[in-house]
Amino acid sequence: MNAPAASAEAPEARGSWFTALVYDPMLWLGERAGMAERRARLLAGARGAVLEIGAGTGLNLERYPAGVERLVLTEPEEHMAKRLARRVAAAGSEAEVVRASADALPFDDQSFDTVVSTMVLCTVPDPQAALGEISRVLRPGGRLLFCEHVRSEGERLARWQDRLHGPWAAFADGCRCNQPTPELLSDAGFAVEVSERDAWRRMPPLVRPLVAGHAQPHG
Ligand SMILES: C[S@@+](CC[C@H](N)C(=O)[O-])C[C@H]1O[C@@H](n2cnc3c(N)ncnc32)[C@H](O)[C@@H]1O
Repeated sequence: MNAPAASAEAPEARGSWFTALVYDPMLWLGERAGMAERRARLLAGARGAVLEIGAGTGLNLERYPAGVERLVLTEPEEHMAKRLARRVAAAGSEAEVVRASADALPFDDQSFDTVVSTMVLCTVPDPQAALGEISRVLRPGGRLLFCEHVRSEGERLARWQDRLHGPWAAFADGCRCNQPTPELLSDAGFAVEVSERDAWRRMPPLVRPLVAGHAQPHG
């Protein structure tokens, strides 16, 4: 198995061998309760050269459609990246694994047709910088496919997300459970099309509200 290719400077990311170890088991029930199908629905829209940010352990890998021409999976955290590389090797996939942070993508301008982000923009320390990078690497007409847990539209849960976002972030490697990600995308100059609002079933209420869809940089 090849070690993940590192970008010029190995990126820093919160996380640990323990998070990487328990990540799949923690998500297992949720994957079975609809998340795996949601990933497949989202990724059916992937075209051409595809870049995934924060790919984690690679739960999206086997859900990419056959027609994808190039697949680059980026992940900054070393233990996650090792598991990701192992999953790619075990699947006999030709996907490239690159250690890189979403706010410093080591790729040329306009080099991808699709960027994928599933449950990542909540964790990236500087989401505006990451969205700037996504715009930069997308070709004209290219799309970001996203599925993210977000701030609740219900006032009661949103209040709990605000109250508990500090302890939650400490528990979940910096994850912001109250982030209004579709609004962040619009503010960053993306045209946002939401295709699904649903619950991330079998997961803690703070991260249950989910939004999936696609977004295109304006102009
Ligand atoms: C909740 S996990 C999601 C993993 C995977 N995308 C999935 O759908 O299962 C969040 C991921 O974001 C990664 N991450 C943290 N900081 C990041 C950054 N600055 N750039 C890109 N990914 C980052 C974490 O290492 C972790 O793998």
